[in-house]
Amino acid sequence: MDVSTAVKKRISTRAFLPTPLDKDDVEQWLKDAQRAPSGGNLQPWRVIALAGDDKLAVENLAAEKLLSNPRGEPTDYPIYPEYISDVQNARRRAVGEAMYGKIGIPREDRAGRMVWFARNYRFFDAPLALFIVMDERVGHGQWGHAGMFMQTLCLLAEERGWGTCMQECWGILRPTLKAHLGLGEHEMVWCGIAVGVPDPENPVNELYTDRAELEEFAELRGF
Ligand SMILES: Cc1cc2nc3c(=O)[nH]c(=O)nc-3n(C[C@H](O)[C@H](O)[C@H](O)COP(=O)(O)O)c2cc1C
Repeated sequence: MDVSTAVKKRISTRAFLPTPLDKDDVEQWLKDAQRAPSGGNLQPWRVIALAGDDKLAVENLAAEKLLSNPRGEPTDYPIYPEYISDVQNARRRAVGEAMYGKIGIPREDRAGRMVWFARNYRFFDAPLALFIVMDERVGHGQWGHAGMFMQTLCLLAEERGWGTCMQECWGILRPTLKAHLGLGEHEMVWCGIAVGVPDPENPVNELYTDRAELEEFAELRGF
């Protein structure tokens, strides 16, 4: 698969087949993705990959914590910043409506949407879960570099016939995850990634999100 095809094909996959992923394949995939660039070659990320009982343990812990505290735990790194522009807000709303539209859960069915959203905390039934771990002392540049690593993972997954969904939603359980995963004093989970073979039957995987037109995000000067 060429890079352009992988970029076009990658979507956030939110339903997976139970097909397990082979440990050697997962190791090779992680090694390949480690070629992602980072300023000063700092490679400021760490990955914890969970399958089988280890993944289940995290999911069960999340279910227990969110049952008693559905809004999650406090974090200094909220998923969205206080300021989001109107344009960005509109995009966020549009993608939510498009997704729930695909699976037929109307806006009025708040409970239905919440139940569906909670599937995030089962990694959408993916057989493999990654946590991207960062040192919370890094600067803003390093967060961007970790993003390059994550997108490289996602593109290389396409080549293997795997789907992915990056999941910042795990950020509402940072203290719990830090303790459970045995992270270092300054480490934190930034993001989860669900990985596995996409379920071709589930309509949620038909969602192909819009993007801004070229004129909206790019200026070409001096041509
Ligand atoms: C860093 C990051 C975190 C995300 N977190 C979540 C999440 O917690 N749950 C979810 O369903 N989608 C999540 N997404 C998926 C975005 O909603 C999705 O990338 C966006 O709507 C564009 O759609 P696409 O990935 O299908 O192209 C995340 C994406 C990124 C890049």
